[in-house]
Amino acid sequence: MTHLPRPSRYDVIVIGAGAAGMMCAAQAGQRGRSVLILDHADKLAEKIRISGGGRCNFTNLDVGMGNYLSRNPQFCRSALARYTPGHFLELIGRHGIAWHEREHGQLFCDDSAQDIIDMLRAECEDGRVAWAMPCALQAVTAGDDPEARFVLDTSHGRFECASLVVATGGLSIPKIGASPLGYKIAEQFGLAMVAPKPALVPLTLPPEELAIYKELAGMAFDAVAECGSGRFRENLLFTHRGLSGPVILQVSSYWQARDYGGADGGNQVTVNLFPAEDVRAWLEERARSKSLLANLLTERLPKRFAQAFCDQRGWNKPTHQFNGKELDAIAEALSGWAITPNGTLGYAKAEVTLGGVDTRELSSKTMEARKQPGLFFVGEVMDVTGHLGGFNFQWAWASGHAAGQAA
Ligand code: FDA
Repeated sequence: MTHLPRPSRYDVIVIGAGAAGMMCAAQAGQRGRSVLILDHADKLAEKIRISGGGRCNFTNLDVGMGNYLSRNPQFCRSALARYTPGHFLELIGRHGIAWHEREHGQLFCDDSAQDIIDMLRAECEDGRVAWAMPCALQAVTAGDDPEARFVLDTSHGRFECASLVVATGGLSIPKIGASPLGYKIAEQFGLAMVAPKPALVPLTLPPEELAIYKELAGMAFDAVAECGSGRFRENLLFTHRGLSGPVILQVSSYWQARDYGGADGGNQVTVNLFPAEDVRAWLEERARSKSLLANLLTERLPKRFAQAFCDQRGWNKPTHQFNGKELDAIAEALSGWAITPNGTLGYAKAEVTLGGVDTRELSSKTMEARKQPGLFFVGEVMDVTGHLGGFNFQWAWASGHAAGQAA
């Protein structure tokens, strides 16, 4: 990385050169502000590089408030409206990055997530942004001078700035640089926090359930999963520790998230194994079948799963021997398989962090802290968490853009 000669005073310093930080730095720099971006990592934007299986699901065609969890569900509306997926597509179009759409409106790079990193770096170069990387931040203090409202002591020396943008992301994947620095800065300046927890994360099953289902590790099928107010239809995947796949990652954000506005999560996940049809009617049509129920179910479900599901419930007789009441109960179990996970795989495997800096502390227009002029938070560090499908990057772009216009 090339380093520009560095004065010690900047208009704007951005901490964290990830998705939101680079977007913000580029915007502020292109407005003519002098900007320094610093990051403690050796490699630039590792999270973008590994995202979307290496192809970065950089946005979604259908982005709205309903795709985000926050204690303050309205907060994200303004920034998302001012920087839309269309704006990001226009940006990548200018950089000649080829992309394609996958199901559920998800947009991915054709070639590599590195294209997005290179584009953001080029945008920063356009804004004459200076870099300090790897750079360890030792302390932030508030100064009195309006042009030097913050003083930063770092491994590259002392810097001062009028606006400080915190873009340090969440806690997921600590081995590529996640840290709680942003939360500590928020607390230092008296800003409230919403307790962070892993989200978009595989769920683990209690030992008695795992004993039955771990044999199925690697098996996946289409299902609807619900938890609290979260309801999704995508693939469910069995793992050696429990359940994963997109549908489980989605509901994991609602699991035990009772205290989230608009997302009354719960302890239990309910899975509909017949997502596309009325299972009671389907059973009725086959009520006279002499096949074992497990064999009949293989019309819709993988054989080993159907067998394990029926064995667990003692449903080991030919279908025609079940009476109407029993078929009602079977239909109920198939359309509402109730699972009570006993945990998650934690930050090591989570795609994002739920919670963070309480958005009630921030302006939804500029991302600036109400009680600390000049202090901004962008991206995942704050309590705005997107569903799986490009929504988290869209929030990084939109919040980074909003602060970049104001800082
Ligand atoms: P981000 O994490 O990108 O950047 C934070 C930066 O701050 C990092 O560069 C870090 O090194 C730096 N930093 C942290 N602590 C610091 C400290 N103490 N000092 C200095 N610097 C510090 N989303 C999506 O929309 N589509 C997708 O395809 C995926 N895929 C995906 C895959 C995987 C495996 C993960 C883990 C996550 C995703 N995501 C995703 C989520 C997405 O990557 C995430 O929401 C954004 O990167 C958040 O952007 P931020 O800029 O807020 O944080």
